Amino acid sequence: MIDHLIVTIDGPAGAGKSTIAARLAAQLNACVLDTGAMYRAVTFAVLESGLDPADHRAAADLAANLQIKLSGEIPHSRVWINDREITDRIRSGQVTAASRHIADNPAIRDVLVTQQRRIAQDTCRIVSEGRDQGSVVFPHADYKFYLDADPAERARRRHAETVDPKESLESIQAAIEQRDLKDQLRPIAPLIKPPDAIVIDSTALSLDQVVQAMLN
Ligand code: DC
Repeated sequence: MIDHLIVTIDGPAGAGKSTIAARLAAQLNACVLDTGAMYRAVTFAVLESGLDPADHRAAADLAANLQIKLSGEIPHSRVWINDREITDRIRSGQVTAASRHIADNPAIRDVLVTQQRRIAQDTCRIVSEGRDQGSVVFPHADYKFYLDADPAERARRRHAETVDPKESLESIQAAIEQRDLKDQLRPIAPLIKPPDAIVIDSTALSLDQVVQAMLN
């Protein structure tokens, strides 16, 4: 058994990264790191404080003093900020929409990337998922995956897990397509397929089939 292992899973919104990462981690006896939950936690804290998420400096100051704790569970990690659990609060449409400002903030990315590397250093085996894990955060990861799926299928999955009954499938798909573009065109840490990543299209695959493909 390998003592130290870093596996990265990157890909667009709704590709199934969180659930797949948690299941793969369970198979590998590894910890899971849901980095999207970290960006969402900062977004929630910024909105709750009444700050403008687009105000880069104010948001970064708040992020620098925020203690984020995660515990990997299926389908999503539990999340605490400053010892208060906010797991159910970070998946609202409002947090999802505002999260792009936080993801675009270079100072916040620095803070979170540092935390992600520290977590990996303190952990023997880790499966880390997000948008930039193989490209920026862990360029020397042992295994890199890029998980993709058709936008319509990703919207259907997000719709099934949304906590906001007002969100229609159509509005979720439009938001997903817009977020894909924003993620891909972001000047820092854009969503890319790392050249050394194994690409898996999960559109027609079950969760078990994706996990099995990764294990193979
Ligand atoms: O995967 P998700 O929908 O939970 O991600 C939430 C937000 O954080 C989304 O705007 C993309 C961004 N993100 C990022 O920029 N880098 C990561 N490593 C993970 C997420």
